[in-house]
Amino acid sequence: MKALQEKIEKEGVILSETVLKVNSFLNHQIDPFLMQEIGKEFAKRFQKDGITKILTLESSGIAPSMMTALELNVPLVFARKKKSLTLNEGVLTAKVYSFTKQEENEITVSGEFLHKDDRVLVIDDFLANGQAALGLIDIVREAGAEFVGLGIVIEKVFQNGGQMLREKGIRIESLAPIRSLENGEVSFAKEEEL
Ligand code: G4P
Ligand code: NA
Ligand code: NA
Repeated sequence: MKALQEKIEKEGVILSETVLKVNSFLNHQIDPFLMQEIGKEFAKRFQKDGITKILTLESSGIAPSMMTALELNVPLVFARKKKSLTLNEGVLTAKVYSFTKQEENEITVSGEFLHKDDRVLVIDDFLANGQAALGLIDIVREAGAEFVGLGIVIEKVFQNGGQMLREKGIRIESLAPIRSLENGEVSFAKEEEL
């Protein structure tokens, strides 16, 4: 997606060869107009898939997911990272391993909001090792709902998540696939190459 890739080139800060900071429009301050464009792009790509619900993970997945939900005219559910006081019965959970933190965390969704007849689009801001995406997909399947595909704002192609998920036959729509962050430069991959 051209506008997104231009924004990354303009405002992204390369923290290391593996980490890209995008706090000016996605992870801290949010650019609502860009989020709207992202929502339109995901909506276009999943227009014919009969999506009835979007699932993401708090917190940075919410903004792009919200705009997509608005475009597709479906509700958005976000998985929680902390146990909620009011979340008790019929809770769907998945374990998500973080390579950076080297710890396993549980993410939760109330069974109230995902049903057997739902067709679910999972969206997240970053795809790195793919563990968060796997956890969200687990939750969709635990609910007996249909997982349709994964929408990713920024994919770090040089980490193994995308490949691992595609090998499982998972459809990924990746709006800004990054091939490398080496030499202080963001180099994008072509979607056809993924
Ligand atoms: P891992 O693959 O390295 O194990 O990372 P992990 O899933 O544990 O992700 C840790 C957090 O870092 C996630 O956000 C993820 O979205 C984010 N992340 C991973 N790679 C990058 C990157 O290159 N740049 C930026 N900006 N973020 C990255 P989170 O903790 O769930 O936070 P949030 O959703 O509240 O923002
Ligand atoms: Na995230
Ligand atoms: Na994040």
